[in-house]
Order: sequence, then structure tokens, then C-alpha cells
Amino acid sequence: MIGVVYLVYAGLLSAVLPVHNARHSPITQQDMAKYRDRVKSMFYHAYNNYLDNAFPYDELRPLTCDGQDTWGSFSLTLIDALDTLLIIGNTTEFQRVVNVLQDTVDFDIDVNASVFETNIRVVGGLLSAHLLSKRAGIELEPGWPCSGPLLRMAEDAARKLLPAFDTPTGMPFGTVNLLKGVNPTETPVTCTAGVGTYIIEFATLSRLTGNPEFERVARHALKGLWESRSEIGLVGNHIDVMTSKWVAQDAGIGAGIDSYFEYLVKGAILLQDEEMMSMFLDYNKAIQNYTKYDDWYVWVQMYKGTVSMPIFQSLEAFWPGLQSLIGDIGNGMRTFLNYYTVWKQFGGLPEFYNIPQGFTVDKREGYPLRPGKFLQSVVLYPITVDLH
Ligand SMILES: *[C@@H]1O[C@H](CO)[C@@H](O)[C@H](O)[C@H]1NC(C)=O
Ligand SMILES: *[C@@H]1O[C@H](CO)[C@@H](O)[C@H](O)[C@H]1NC(C)=O
Ligand SMILES: *[C@@H]1O[C@H](CO)[C@@H](O)[C@H](O)[C@H]1NC(C)=O
Repeated sequence: MIGVVYLVYAGLLSAVLPVHNARHSPITQQDMAKYRDRVKSMFYHAYNNYLDNAFPYDELRPLTCDGQDTWGSFSLTLIDALDTLLIIGNTTEFQRVVNVLQDTVDFDIDVNASVFETNIRVVGGLLSAHLLSKRAGIELEPGWPCSGPLLRMAEDAARKLLPAFDTPTGMPFGTVNLLKGVNPTETPVTCTAGVGTYIIEFATLSRLTGNPEFERVARHALKGLWESRSEIGLVGNHIDVMTSKWVAQDAGIGAGIDSYFEYLVKGAILLQDEEMMSMFLDYNKAIQNYTKYDDWYVWVQMYKGTVSMPIFQSLEAFWPGLQSLIGDIGNGMRTFLNYYTVWKQFGGLPEFYNIPQGFTVDKREGYPLRPGKFLQSVVLYPITVDLH
């Protein structure tokens, strides 16, 4: 229920906000079609060049125009591209790639993999493609959505991550060897996002496969973080998963923490879980109270609430969309506007932006094509502008 309530609330709010009267007229259907074609051709440019020059490696190196394994050795770009192929309507290519992946990808490999990245990209990518298959008109295996080749692959991959969660706190290690489990010398220090970004994929897996273990470990990890928050209601950046001691005590909404908050909200909506939403709303109160200045969000010491870095990070650009998901369109729009001024100042978002100085931070000027800012536009646009 709760997710539906919030979304309806978001819709109502947008109906009374003055942004409709903005001088910019909404994007026309013709414009939409033009942008859609442009996005498609950009996708095929990247996709075909990956296939021609980098497959079966994880990623294309665009300067040397060859391939390399980055996050594992599972043709990651193909897995990343699967659901996009469905969304842009290329079912024949999708079918071909599903067969290729089934024939070539093996998760029984001696690779030290990031638990977080393998979840959001491999498990998440396979699951979303699996679940989109029906709407895309793909021929389905009997028993779908509880059966199917992509679901089996997602479960295989996720099983390899489970040993990482076997800690005294239930919070996972950041890295696991897909063949041997956690390396004996592995560091017990994991970033907050690396602990709290599993519930969407793992609960989906549990409910589709009937194996409750995935959802159980993801919830246990969330509980570990919740119980480790400071007295003023904030979480830090890195935690020791053996002892629950905070190793990095900067609290904010960006790098190292970001998707923990995202998954609380989206997990609450997906699973209709009021407890998860109320965790987020409590964090949100502390974040608004201690880290927000003039609709910017800064970094603060998690126990004292004192400002440690007056910095906006490119990775924080997801936040306005998250605010809109809980119905707080006004806050979301004002912060979005701040971030948009940074975008306009540089023509892209630098990794770090010093807010009082109004400029980039030394050695953090780069823009590694992060999609967060665009995703927020996609979330906020239909809520705040009438589409004709
Ligand atoms: C689907 O993608 C493949 C590979 O890029 C391409 O050859 C084919 O023309 C595409 N089909 C459609 C319908 O766009
Ligand atoms: C994985 O990490 C362990 C511990 O650091 C190391 O000994 C091992 O060589 C690594 N394995 C691979 C395949 O990189
Ligand atoms: C907000 O911060 C003040 C201290 O600046 C504190 O006294 C108050 O309890 C905080 N409220 C919330 C909801 O965090």
C-alpha cells in the first residue's frame, strides 16, 4: 500500500505546484521521437562497437578499441545491455544474446568480485531482463516468472555472493571470490552502500525462486546498518562488518552511502514494506536537519552533525528523484535546480563541487558519464510538467 500512497501523493502535489507555468513549454511529441531516435542510435553505436571489438570481455576500451575484464569475466556489457534491448524493442537480438550468455557465461570462476557491483549489474540486469521478457513478447518458459534461463543465471550469480554475508553482524564483506568464497585476508571494512544495496534484487530472487535465503541476508544486512546509526540518526561511510565499528564517519547522501537510501525507498515501494520506508523517513529527518543548507546537501560528522566537507558530488544527483518518490516534490525540485546550475556552469557534473567556492575540487574535476542526473530528469519531468 505504502508505495501507492506515496506515488499518488506525488501526483497530487505536482498538480498544485507552480512549475507548470514555467516559460519553457513541454517537450512536444515530435521532439520526443527525435530524442528517442538519437538515444537509440547512440545505444547501437556503443553496443555494436562493443560486440565488434570487445566481446567476450566485460568492457570496451574506447581509445585502444579492444576489450578488458573489469568487474569479473562475464561479458558484463552484454548483461548490462539486455534490458535495454527489450526496452528499445530489439527482441531478435535479445534472444540471440540470451543464448550467447547461456552458452558462454560461467560464474564458477576464480575471480575476486565486488559483491555490490555483481549484485546491481549482473543479478539486477538478469532479473530485470527476465521480468521484462513477457511484455516484450519473448517466448516464455512454462512457469515464468518463477522459471526461465535468465532467472537461473541470476540465481547462480547471487549464490556466489552469499558467503560474503556470513559475518557476525550480517553485514557483508565488499569482495568475494566467486569460486572460493571470502579470501582469508579480505578486509572487513565495507562501505555503507556495499552493505545496504541488495534488498531489491535479493527479495525479488527469493520470491521468484522460493529460496528465502537471499531476502533474509539482505534484510539482516539492512538491520545491521540501522542498528549502527548514530544517536543523531546518521550513518557513516565505511563500517567494519565484524565489529560494527564505523571506520569512516562522514555522513552524507553521496559516494559510499547513496544507494543504501535509494534501496530503502525503492525496496519499501516494491515490497510494500512500511518498516523499511519508516527507516528511510527517519534518516531523511536527520539528513534534512544536519546536512542540508540552502537546498544543498553537505557532508557532516555522523556523531556530532558538524560539517566536514561542504561538497556536492556527482553521485548525489539521484537524491531529488528519491525525494519526489516520497512525495517531496518541492524539495526535490529545488535541489535539482541547484545541481542543474552546476551542470550549466561546466557542461557536465564534476565528481566533486565545492559549494561555498562555487568551483570544482582539485583532482575531482572529471565526469565519468554518470547517469544519475539524467535519471532524475526522467523521474521529475513527468511529475512536474504536463505532457500534451
Ligand atoms: C537489433 O540489433 C542488431 C545488433 O545491433 C541489429 O543488427 C538489428 O538490426 C537490430 N534490429 C532492430 C529491429 O533494430
Ligand atoms: C584474490 O584475492 C586474494 C587475496 O587478496 C589473492 O591472494 C588472489 O590472488 C586474488 N585472486 C585473483 C584471481 O585475483
Ligand atoms: C535537529 O538538530 C538539532 C541540533 O541542531 C537537534 O537538537 C534536534 O533534535 C534535531 N532534530 C532532528 C529531527 O534530528
